[in-house]
Amino acid sequence: MKAAAVERFATIEELDPESKYLVHKAKDATLLSYAPYSKFNVGAALMLEDGTIVTGSNQENASYPLCMCAERVALYNAATMHPNKKITKLAVVAHKKNHKELTSATSCGACAQVMLEFETRQKKTFEVIMLGPDDQWLKCSSVSALLPMGFTKDSL
Ligand code: THU
Repeated sequence: MKAAAVERFATIEELDPESKYLVHKAKDATLLSYAPYSKFNVGAALMLEDGTIVTGSNQENASYPLCMCAERVALYNAATMHPNKKITKLAVVAHKKNHKELTSATSCGACAQVMLEFETRQKKTFEVIMLGPDDQWLKCSSVSALLPMGFTKDSL
């Protein structure tokens, strides 16, 4: 398998048109975030092989451990609504409550592990786009760039 690569872009304008579009869809999804506790609104958007867009946003709970990240909401939504379509790209963005501008948000380890399972089950990698800690846009060629030693069924 090809090694995972990470491309970096100083502005969103430098991303390819499809990635830019997906970032905008992820941004729209932040409007549906329910984050009264963290006040950190996250949106995720993924593209399927036929161009269908599926979104998700973080959904929190007064019982904190039950909070669910935007990425997993989008992934499980896609698996349920479009079970046989492969994911080609996923974008995740976040902003703080009452702030319009996006803030850096790289996917948590749990989401990266779930993304890895999706790559494994669809037998194809997909790109992951997010705003990195130095405010550069990151485009990962596959989930392995986020989680190089993730756990897979091969270990079982
Ligand atoms: N969050 C996500 O939605 N995705 C991530 O990858 C990291 C964190 C959410 C979970 C929680 O609602 C809030 O951000 C603060 O952790």
